[in-house]
Amino acid sequence: MDKYTYIFKGTAFTSETNKKVAILKDHLFCINENGVIEDIFNSTHDEYSRLIDAYQDNDNFHTLAAGQYILPGFVDLHVHAPQWAQSGTALDLPLYDWLHTYTFPLEAKFADLEFAELVYDDLVTTLLKNGTTTALYFATIHKEASLLLATICAKKGQRGLVGKVVMDDPTQNPDFYRDQDAKTALADTEEFILEVNHLSKETKQGVYPVVTPRFIPSCTDEVLTGLGKLAEKYDTYIQSHCSESDWAHNYVQERFSKHDAFALNDFGLLKDKSVMAHCNFLDDEDASLFAKTGTAISHCPLSNAYFANSVLPVAHLQEKGVDIGLGTDISAGATPSIYANAIQSIISSRMLEDGVNSSIPASERGVPHSRLTIDEAFYLATAGGGESLSLPIGKIKKNYSWDIQIIDTTVSSARMPIFSPDEQPYDIFQKIMYHTRPEHIQEVWVQGDKVQF
Ligand code: GUN
Ligand code: FE
Repeated sequence: MDKYTYIFKGTAFTSETNKKVAILKDHLFCINENGVIEDIFNSTHDEYSRLIDAYQDNDNFHTLAAGQYILPGFVDLHVHAPQWAQSGTALDLPLYDWLHTYTFPLEAKFADLEFAELVYDDLVTTLLKNGTTTALYFATIHKEASLLLATICAKKGQRGLVGKVVMDDPTQNPDFYRDQDAKTALADTEEFILEVNHLSKETKQGVYPVVTPRFIPSCTDEVLTGLGKLAEKYDTYIQSHCSESDWAHNYVQERFSKHDAFALNDFGLLKDKSVMAHCNFLDDEDASLFAKTGTAISHCPLSNAYFANSVLPVAHLQEKGVDIGLGTDISAGATPSIYANAIQSIISSRMLEDGVNSSIPASERGVPHSRLTIDEAFYLATAGGGESLSLPIGKIKKNYSWDIQIIDTTVSSARMPIFSPDEQPYDIFQKIMYHTRPEHIQEVWVQGDKVQF
């Protein structure tokens, strides 16, 4: 097929800007041997008919059936992989109690590699089934089990970015679940980085090590300093939680007399490859620091409703120049679906703007201009995630990775409400965003390879 490994013929949706979805109606998508989009042709292009005539009977020429659509694979910027085992439980507790009563005892069990394999294998498959082609994971403090998660991503074909969690402060963490001391935590992290980088070479899609201080309250100054240096030495990704809840935000203020953002930056932890979860209580100075350092935010709207009682002002932060993508925050968010979080980001934004269209003036109850549209939520789920990670993913565009999901809107057991043969593609797009369940996700491809789930 000329220089192409695969050609797909069908209609795709992709972000043109963070505010506008483009509809690529009945195009040809030509994928090269590296799993990258080499060319896209619309029906007026000479190559369009030539390629169809020459190759449509070839096994590697995929014609989408009526009612099927291509979307970019989703990017989940914040998943606690071990917490999949408690998803849906204990959500009534405040964050601190939830961590100590449920989460740390659960995470401690990942010293057992058999248990870790059971949970991680199921989670990676579940995320793929839900259309998530790239995920940024917190694992646990255990080096071996964290490496196992990276290995499972590598094997199943997901683009996994994985962090061995660091939490070494004996005054803040329970003895049954913490790094022994700063020195051991740093040595384990360095070995983990080297092993994941080695593993990545055996994959097409890439797996990446992530320097992962859990959050400032769980770490000593010594370990935070050392982690900043390791991230610099190996040019790795960095992730943590930043200004998530009143409690966490105030703890950092008391310890360092500054906001989380500035404290993290002092330790060399805010960089272009940094993704900070939540960030609900950033002020404008914090936001400017994020924009200046290239630090991105993983917006976890479901988790924020439960544990932070808060709505991230997405539109305002984007205007300040901050990259933002979506995160499920399993298990503080009780769904593996980025679809559900995209819709929640819209709902939450409407709550933030509450008052604008009611009899109560916005100045008393809401924040003007905070509502997100479906196009903006789709952007957060796809291109926003890609830009946060500085990777060519999340768009159906030349030179981007072929990371996609094929949605079948006609599945008889889970019918979508589409009743007219000439329904407009933009309306179908919106219905896909609201109604897609795993039953509708027929195929998922990562870096030009179809994954199994
Ligand atoms: N802050 C520190 N650890 C966690 C965690 O596991 N989940 C959430 N939501 N916040 C945290
Ligand atoms: Fe989290």
